[in-house]
Amino acid sequence: MLDVSEASIGRAGKALAEGRLVAFPTETVYGLGANAFDEKAVARIFEAKARPNFDPLIVHIAELSQADRVVSSLPPAARALMERLWPGPLTLILPKRDEVPDLVTSGLPTVALRFPANSVAQDLIRAAGLPIAAPSANPFGYLSPTTADHVAAMLGDKVDFIIDGGPCRIGVESTVLDVTGERPVVLRPGGMPVESIEEVVGKVEILDRSEAKPTSPGQLPSHYAPHTKLYLVPSGGLAYAKPHGKAAALVYDAASKEALAHAHGAPSHFRTIRVLSESGDLLESAARLFSTLHELDSGGFDEIWAERLPELGLGRAVNDRLFKASEKR
Ligand code: TXA
Ligand code: MG
Repeated sequence: MLDVSEASIGRAGKALAEGRLVAFPTETVYGLGANAFDEKAVARIFEAKARPNFDPLIVHIAELSQADRVVSSLPPAARALMERLWPGPLTLILPKRDEVPDLVTSGLPTVALRFPANSVAQDLIRAAGLPIAAPSANPFGYLSPTTADHVAAMLGDKVDFIIDGGPCRIGVESTVLDVTGERPVVLRPGGMPVESIEEVVGKVEILDRSEAKPTSPGQLPSHYAPHTKLYLVPSGGLAYAKPHGKAAALVYDAASKEALAHAHGAPSHFRTIRVLSESGDLLESAARLFSTLHELDSGGFDEIWAERLPELGLGRAVNDRLFKASEKR
């Protein structure tokens, strides 16, 4: 585990340039990085994550000028979004340059590009002097990591360095926005609220979760899942839940917890009730989502029951992750 001193970042940057794997913090979740132009290094990412090759990776840059090395053209909407919302938790799908290996994009003619806001991530990418391909640093399909300890526990023996930059500020992955078509389409709700995107480019489309043919594995129906069975109910619905065995409840705010505690007969159903944000703050809920799920998943529960959050701002991203983590009934 490396600290965030200049020397450590320098060492890790050099390792990246030499084709090795480095896990690093971003403002959303921890990433597992490799030189985006080095096919062999990128292949090691898939191996470490046991990730199917059809899942394309996000390329991370730390200066706008680096986009030219990755992207063949910039639609006007992309330019406006880059100017207004980068660096930040927004990934843009753009036409790719031939130099970007097919392994990075799963053979797609497009590439996912992101300029993270986290200064450790930026320093690392600058130290490497390269665009860095990085998925979230978790085994495929499992909960994403929001601390260096999560990464160490899940992938510790498979990466060359883990940089510990503390807990991630936002806590859910970036919003993925396809800007190659006539109107921008949100492929994955995430850390950049749709509302902020619409302020820049007007109305966007939000891809239907039940879409039959996923083009983005973030759209696969099961993803971001704990090992423990998770059931998702509407907001306020936990009072009517019928859990089995030792069960935990994940509620949105103090009001939900209060309502559950006073629901007729219900309190005895849940061994533990965890609150995402006492005051009902969507940002705080997102920031705590994965770490709370990691904890509950190692708490020896038979079931986790969660309620939906309000479907706005970062609530959309949290609901999306909870939906994908949940049992489909
Ligand atoms: O916040 C984040 O985005 C984090 C940090 C590390 O930057 N990364 C992340 O990467 O979440 P990953 O690999 O777990 O998710 C990338 C998402 C996937 O849903 C993938 O299918 C989609 O981006 N994606 C990548 N390239 C794409 C492309 N060319 N077209 C459509 N979707 C693409
Ligand atoms: Mg992921």
